[in-house]
Amino acid sequence: AKDKGMTVDPLRTVAKEMKFLTGNIRKLLGSGHPSLDRVAKYYTQAEGKHVRPLIVLLMSRATHLCPKAASLENSPTSRGIDTSISPIQILADVNPSANPLTAYDTKELPEEGNPDILPSQRRLAEITELIHTASLLHDDVIDHSVSRRGSPSANLEFGNKMAVLAGDFLLGRASVALARLRNAEVVELLATVIANLVEGEFMQLKNTERDERSPKYSEETLQYYLQKTYLKTASLISKSCRASALLGGADAATVDAAYSYGRNLGLAFQLVDDMLDYTRSGAELGKPAGADLELGLATAPLLFAWKQIPELGALVGRKFEQEGDVQRARELVLQSDGVEQTRALAQEYSEKAMSAIAHFPESEAKDGLLEMAHKTIKRNK
Ligand code: FPP
Ligand code: MG
Ligand code: MG
Repeated sequence: AKDKGMTVDPLRTVAKEMKFLTGNIRKLLGSGHPSLDRVAKYYTQAEGKHVRPLIVLLMSRATHLCPKAASLENSPTSRGIDTSISPIQILADVNPSANPLTAYDTKELPEEGNPDILPSQRRLAEITELIHTASLLHDDVIDHSVSRRGSPSANLEFGNKMAVLAGDFLLGRASVALARLRNAEVVELLATVIANLVEGEFMQLKNTERDERSPKYSEETLQYYLQKTYLKTASLISKSCRASALLGGADAATVDAAYSYGRNLGLAFQLVDDMLDYTRSGAELGKPAGADLELGLATAPLLFAWKQIPELGALVGRKFEQEGDVQRARELVLQSDGVEQTRALAQEYSEKAMSAIAHFPESEAKDGLLEMAHKTIKRNK
């Protein structure tokens, strides 16, 4: 049973905004080409967890009560967005079915919801989900995935070429919406995220190349994994938290705190993800379990196990490709305390995330952020 009064549902504090999220995203993705329209919107159908927009919206509310930057008066974004440029000029090439004159205009976002969340911050929440979804479309091609969120993955349903193009299309539309916020620092942050996602994926891919000399575990092994994890997962969460505080006109200390929260939460989130790949079944996850070893990937549970069991080096070197390798590696990981150490490290990051915002003024949104950090390490899906 839940302890009464103690737990806040983080979703509830931004429920109105979350209700409009998918509809707004689908508007941003409107295309006159029916088949592109279908594949681009495909991952918006099954309800995802929308963790990133949820965090952005909670951060927007929580930082609203924090000190403002001194230069606030001069900042055009502090009062919403600059609408001085005619949307027609820019959007003439967009199909009318996409409602071109208004699709990117934050003034068109529903009025309902919390007045302390700016239209630009709501749009940012949508942009983070778009970038995330684009990366999933590409990721499923790279990983040869067959399912995502309990349904066939886009690459299976539409083919690799369509899935790649759809991902590119999402990035394009995310970029237009981002540019429309008229905040160069925020554009720079989110553009860096896109580069970081590719860098993280690249580091991971490099790591799946065979190394017959049976590598040894070293401290760098874990550092490489953590750097990759930052780029692949935590960069989007941390930089969008930072962007959310910037759009709200928060002072430098608040902006840094928002970033630190996102970074630590993102690292905790991915560590748990990598742990669940060992501890949960495919049916429970909605995507194949044990997928990382099959892909030749050594994630945190295996790295901690490897530190204790040097023989794992041979399997890591040949990327678990030999008959029985995946099964053997899995057994060794589950026999070691690799899973437990991964959980402990995730817990550490989750606590760092909480302490980063500990000095924020008390609010429901702040409690929501703390609850998110708590939930991240408790989740089993
Ligand atoms: C999911 O990881 C994948 C990511 C978080 C990022 C993947 C990044 C790219 C493919 C680079 C291209 C980026 C863009 C923005 C187009 P996972 O495979 O561990 O998770 P999964 O189990 O959900 O598939
Ligand atoms: Mg994948
Ligand atoms: Mg992947």
